[in-house]
Amino acid sequence: MNQTLNYNWDYIDNYNESYLTEFPTQSQKIDIPHSLVELPYNYFSEDSYQKIVTYRKIFDVEDQLNKDKISILRFDGFMMKAKIYLNKEYLGQFVSGYIQVKIDISKYIKQKDNELIVVLDSTEDPLIPPFGYAVDYLTYSGIYREVFLEVHPRTYLENIYVHGDSKGFIDIDYDVVNATKDVKIDFEIFNGEHSLERFSSNQFILKNPILWDISNPFLYKMVIRLRGQYGEEYYEQMFGFKDAEFRKDGFYLNNKKLKLVGLNRHQGYPIMGYAASKSLQREDADILKFQVGVNVVRTSHYPQSEHFLARCDEIGLLVINEIPGWQHISNKKEWRDQYYEDVKRMVLVERKYTSVIAHGVRIDESKDDHELYSKGNEIAHSLDKYKQTIGVRNFRGSELLEDVYGYNDFSSDRLEHGLDDPHKTIKDKPYLVTEYLGHMDPVKAGSDEHQYIETALRHARVINDNFKYNYGCGAIGWCFVDYHTHADFGAGDHICPHGVMDLYRNPKYSSFIYASQQDEYPVLKILSNMKPGDFAEAIYEKIYVATNCDYVKLYKNGEYVATFYPNKKEFPNLKHPPIIIDDIVGETLKDERMSKKDEALIAKLLTKSGIVGFGHMSKADKLKLAMFMLKYKTSYQDVVDLWNEHIAAWGGLAKTFVFKGYIKDKEVISEESGPSKQVVLDAKLIKKVLVNEDTFDTTRIVVKHLDEHGSLCRYSNRVIHIETSGPIKLYGEPYQALLGGQLSVYIRSENKPGKGNVKISMDRQVKEFEIEVK
Ligand code: GAL
Repeated sequence: MNQTLNYNWDYIDNYNESYLTEFPTQSQKIDIPHSLVELPYNYFSEDSYQKIVTYRKIFDVEDQLNKDKISILRFDGFMMKAKIYLNKEYLGQFVSGYIQVKIDISKYIKQKDNELIVVLDSTEDPLIPPFGYAVDYLTYSGIYREVFLEVHPRTYLENIYVHGDSKGFIDIDYDVVNATKDVKIDFEIFNGEHSLERFSSNQFILKNPILWDISNPFLYKMVIRLRGQYGEEYYEQMFGFKDAEFRKDGFYLNNKKLKLVGLNRHQGYPIMGYAASKSLQREDADILKFQVGVNVVRTSHYPQSEHFLARCDEIGLLVINEIPGWQHISNKKEWRDQYYEDVKRMVLVERKYTSVIAHGVRIDESKDDHELYSKGNEIAHSLDKYKQTIGVRNFRGSELLEDVYGYNDFSSDRLEHGLDDPHKTIKDKPYLVTEYLGHMDPVKAGSDEHQYIETALRHARVINDNFKYNYGCGAIGWCFVDYHTHADFGAGDHICPHGVMDLYRNPKYSSFIYASQQDEYPVLKILSNMKPGDFAEAIYEKIYVATNCDYVKLYKNGEYVATFYPNKKEFPNLKHPPIIIDDIVGETLKDERMSKKDEALIAKLLTKSGIVGFGHMSKADKLKLAMFMLKYKTSYQDVVDLWNEHIAAWGGLAKTFVFKGYIKDKEVISEESGPSKQVVLDAKLIKKVLVNEDTFDTTRIVVKHLDEHGSLCRYSNRVIHIETSGPIKLYGEPYQALLGGQLSVYIRSENKPGKGNVKISMDRQVKEFEIEVK
């Protein structure tokens, strides 16, 4: 039985030995997941949360204890190490960081009034990975994942792993704790609630299994029953049947080649750090799969929440995990032993997830270390003989001890080059690009348009090259969302702005490049604010549209301009290349003196001049313009007048553009861009009902400052006011500033049912939401 120990802890943000005998009365009530501090968005010191603090939990045991039972205290994650006391007995010091800690407390536990004290130390310890040198991410603080009391019969099972392959072969692995001779274990496989087979050997073949795939992530349930002299227990494990193999000519899922297209995920959140509850963890998987539209995620650079992994199993998002670390390897025995322990714990916990296709056992971008990595690989293979291992490097010619050569390819060069040929790095082994872009092209939520567009197109260029090299397994970009980092990195404000979304999970242009490669829902995003005044010399740059539509029709002030098609020339390998809008005049230019052909010619030339500027036009274009002027006896002033009428949005009257996207000749989506005159407060509540289960539940309200055309006002940093009432709590301050015109407001439930209310106001506009807590 699992008893939640997550609600109602006493917490004090320091430590004194006297707390062990008498807990201070000025302590605060908190729930787990918990972070020591609520961090501002940026500009803070990582020292603010690196301290020693004390937690206390008083609890009764719900199950009836007796000598045939064993009690395990389970922490799913705290940062970083803790001295733990139960009923005044010292249980020892434990290191977690990113891995589960389990402690047998049977000797000390009582039926009622247990006092559990955790003295938590969140300082960065150079003897524990990832520390010892610099690290490009923060590790935050607190008991940031759930805590449970597990009560089992004295003989019980742990580390259950159900493996199923595409032929229906099942292999079940587990450890029997305190095994006795009379123990009997049997297995029953279910499709939903429907029992399919019962068997008593840990290997079995299920005929004609439905395979687990990214488009149909079908999961079966294995029920395992244990009976022995100390009693009975049963366990449930979801699992899927699949084959996943990295080969030297590509990645294969169920023997079909699949190009991996993915992003790296850090598990940090605004304000709460790592202490995000279940629904936020699950939402990240959903955003990656359904909104951004990738097929794989790398959990850089440490084991992540099991809620996230379980959701990846359910929705068919492939995962490559990784042990904690960043570039640095220590010679110290304690550090190296902790690395071995991390590999072991990660594999034991994460091998059961069907979505995990390789275990990342090498410290990200570290140098070769034969001893360390031979042993690391050996541990992983001995605990999981079905999943391959991968090691991530940033150099070539490294000793390959893993099954897959992971390589961070930062060779991207503007729009000229996305990725290197995999064969430059390795020919006869599986090869996966595990990172690209990131620091090569950082872009903040409020960055100027040029940077915003450029980064998006560089992502498009890399994905294009990912498909070009058909023998590479795929490429995983740096990264999903912006992340907090140490002072040594980032933009000096403790943020690495490398995400295709910001820290609040709101999209930048680059995320639409990924989204436009899928066919589940129509995407059309103009990668430009269409405001020349935002560009040097007031010259539009090329206007791209990220879309999965067959074509796009453009209208200007209600008049049809032209139809545009995917740009196969620039992005030949993309399924849905962005569309270039190279004519914003088109059929709106009508002059009875001119032939249709000449109208079209001058329309294109005028647009070009808007895109590159008159002065920078090519000789050929200038010549065409001169011929045109000669032919129609037009003066230079006439051409300038035409330009003013049709192009000049800066210094002329601003225009409204509507882009309509068509799939199979049906209009499916549109976007509008025009002069902004009004402020529109837009707010969407992601989840209306919060359910308290093992712990509290969290949701967010996505707030946007839009204009009357529905365009995001990306330079808006308006302050919004948030008021809450009822059994809910706001993360952060009641006044929060928009970031690049948008923000997520995070709200959690209190431990009581009822109706809560949230009121958000900006510029005298108000949005109200009711949130139910169950
Ligand atoms: C890589 C590293 C990542 C991140 C990234 C920034 O070298 O593996 O953790 O720091 O650079 O682009």
